[in-house]
Amino acid sequence: MNTDLKISFIGAGNMARSLIGGLLNDHYPAKNIWASDLNAQQCTKISADMGIITTSSNLDAVDGANIVVLAVKPQMMADLCRELEPHLRQSKPLIISIAAGIRSDALQRWIGPSQAIVRTMPNTPSLVGSGATALFATDAVSDERRQQAESILRAVGVALWVNDESEMDAITALSGCGPAYFFLVMEILQNIGEKMGLSPETARLLTLQTGYGATKMALESELDCAELRRRVSSPGGVTERAIDKLLDKNIDNLFSEALITARERSIELANLLGKS
Ligand SMILES: NC(=O)c1ccc[n+]([C@@H]2O[C@H](COP(=O)([O-])OP(=O)(O)OC[C@H]3O[C@@H](n4cnc5c(N)ncnc54)[C@H](OP(=O)(O)O)[C@@H]3O)[C@@H](O)[C@H]2O)c1
Repeated sequence: MNTDLKISFIGAGNMARSLIGGLLNDHYPAKNIWASDLNAQQCTKISADMGIITTSSNLDAVDGANIVVLAVKPQMMADLCRELEPHLRQSKPLIISIAAGIRSDALQRWIGPSQAIVRTMPNTPSLVGSGATALFATDAVSDERRQQAESILRAVGVALWVNDESEMDAITALSGCGPAYFFLVMEILQNIGEKMGLSPETARLLTLQTGYGATKMALESELDCAELRRRVSSPGGVTERAIDKLLDKNIDNLFSEALITARERSIELANLLGKS
């Protein structure tokens, strides 16, 4: 990406920090990164920690910006867009929204139908550079701008495009909420390990390293997860006994119901947030 572009983050909280950290790691010049936040402490901290330019004025931040990343909570988004709209209408930067559940049609209604908007759905591991982000571009987004958006999100993990925005609800249910499912499974395994007599430290370390190791293996392998599972479940062995118990109790149906419910809730919330 051209490193002369002014990139402005509106909202300098957790996600903005992680994306800015990713850009700096990719050697994007700090002098071309701006952030604005209503909270003066956030501005002072992020400028001291990262050396970027900060301001309490959103309008100063977007002034002359080539890319504007909207990084406030979803419920703040309508008001923020309305504040920025007169300015954005003139300057027409690429707008990237990272807010969960705000659809592009709502953004277009708030900031104008011809704006180049990329809606993204990142997840929490972005905070440690291991995120999974889906991106959706409106018609006004050129190939060059798609690449710019992708570079910013790829700096904190994997980034992939969807052509149909309605997939975002399934993505929210899968990778948006996904870290919580894995945390729950690890919480359960750790607790059971302790109940079986392991020390909390041992149960925790073995659980987390096993989760990490299994993920690393799956990412590096050409085999799919079902085959990897079969290969560690020898007939008549210990793992097979445990897996059979989980499948007998319909663990797949349970996850299916959970994700379908999550997708329905994502649709409900997007309808609600997009109303204003
Ligand atoms: N954290 C994640 O892992 C994650 C994952 C996926 C998506 N997201 C999305 O990322 C967005 C940001 O999340 P976050 O966790 O970074 O939130 P956050 O830490 O609360 O940061 C948002 C910042 O924006 C400030 N702010 C609020 N209204 C503002 C306005 N009108 N103008 C300028 N600044 C304003 C807030 O100040 P105050 O605190 O004073 O309100 C806060 O400092 C959300 O939309 C969320 O859906 C986050």
